[in-house]
Amino acid sequence: MGDFLGKMGMKSKPVIAIAGATGVVGNEMLAVLEQLNIPCSELRLLASKDSVGELYKFHSDEIRVEQLDGAAFEGADVALFATSNDLAREFVPLAVEAGAVVIDNSSAFRLQPEIPLVVPEVNFEAIKSSDRIIANPNCSTIQLVPVLQAIHQAAGLRRVVVTTFQSVSGAGKAALDELWDQTLAIFNQREIKIEAFPHQIAFNCIPQIDVLMDDGYTREEFKIIQESRKILGLANLKITATAVRVPVFHGHAGSVNVETEKPLSPKEVSEILSKRSELAVFSEAADYPMQLSVAGTDAIQVGRIRRDDSAPNALNLWIVADNIRKGAALNAVQILQRLLPQH
Ligand SMILES: NC(=O)c1ccc[n+]([C@@H]2O[C@H](COP(=O)([O-])OP(=O)(O)OC[C@H]3O[C@@H](n4cnc5c(N)ncnc54)[C@H](OP(=O)(O)O)[C@@H]3O)[C@@H](O)[C@H]2O)c1
Repeated sequence: MGDFLGKMGMKSKPVIAIAGATGVVGNEMLAVLEQLNIPCSELRLLASKDSVGELYKFHSDEIRVEQLDGAAFEGADVALFATSNDLAREFVPLAVEAGAVVIDNSSAFRLQPEIPLVVPEVNFEAIKSSDRIIANPNCSTIQLVPVLQAIHQAAGLRRVVVTTFQSVSGAGKAALDELWDQTLAIFNQREIKIEAFPHQIAFNCIPQIDVLMDDGYTREEFKIIQESRKILGLANLKITATAVRVPVFHGHAGSVNVETEKPLSPKEVSEILSKRSELAVFSEAADYPMQLSVAGTDAIQVGRIRRDDSAPNALNLWIVADNIRKGAALNAVQILQRLLPQH
C-alpha cells in the first residue's frame, strides 16, 4: 500500500479543492471531510460567481467561496468535483493539468474504459498509481453494487432486476426547492411551477430520471446498468433497471430481484451481507429501512430479504441509503481517505 501511495504521490496533508462546494453534494463533502477528520493544509471552496464571498465553517475556520475558474486549482493536490457534467468536462482537465488528482461526481467520465469507477469497499484496487481522474458512481449504483458483489461471490449472479425510488435531492438544490415550493403552492391553492422535473413532483411519482434515450430507457437506467457491470467487472451481467423519482426529500430506495446460479436462503443472504462493514442488514421481516430513517446515515441498509418463488434461485431485497452521503459525498471522501499515506 505504501508503495502504491508513493506512486500516487498523495501528500499526508494535501491542498484540497471542492468544485461545486455550495451545492447539495459539494456542501456534504465539506461536512464529511470534517467528520472523517481528513487532514489538509488548505481547503478551497469553488462555485459560481453568484456564491463568491459566502462563508462556510470548516473545523474552527471560516472559508470564503471563490469562483471556479482555471486558476483555482493551482497548487491543489486533490480536487473533489460536484458540478454538472458540462462543468466537469471543462474544469477536470484543468485541475489535472495543475497537478491535482480528481474525484468526480458527475457522469462525464464514469464509463470511459481507462477511468476507474470506484466504490472503495467493492473495487478500490481498480485505481492505478498513474490515474489522475477517479469517477464516483451514480447514487443508485453505489448502494446496489456492494450487495450484488457479496451475492455474486457467494452464489454467482444470473440476473438482476432493479426498480429505484429516488428522492429529489438526487437532482440538486433546485430540485429540493421545487418539491417544497410545489407542496406549499398546492396547499395554498396557487399555481405550481415545473422546472427541475419533466412533470409535477409533489404528490406524484415520475418514471423518468435524466433524459429518455432511443431504446426507451432513461439515461439514469442506462447508468445503473452499465456502471454496475463496470464496477463489478461483469461486462455481460444480465441486469435491467427502472428508475422512478418519488416526492421524498432525502434517500434513495431500490427494490432488487436477484437470480443466482446456486441456491441461497434469505437467512444465508442476511449472514453474507452482515459481514460487510458498509451494509446494515435488517433480518426481521417487520423491521425494514426507509428513506426517512436513512437520511444523514452512512450505511447502506438492506431489508425485506425474501424468497421469490416465481423463478429458481430468486430473491427479493429492499436497499436504502442516503444518496447524498454514501451515494455521493461520503463515497468520494472515502476514496480520498484511502489514497492518503496514513491509511
Ligand atoms: N445529488 C445527488 O444525490 C448526486 C449523487 C451523485 C452524483 N451527483 C452529481 O453531482 C453533481 C452535483 O450535484 P448536486 O446535486 O450537488 O448539484 P447542485 O446542488 O445543483 O450544485 C451544483 C454546484 O455547481 C455549482 N455551479 C453551478 N453553475 C456553475 C458555474 N457556472 N460555475 C461554477 N459553479 C457552478 C453551484 O454553485 P452555485 O451555488 O454558486 O450556483 C453548486 O455549487 C452532479 O453532476 C450530479 O449529477 C449528485
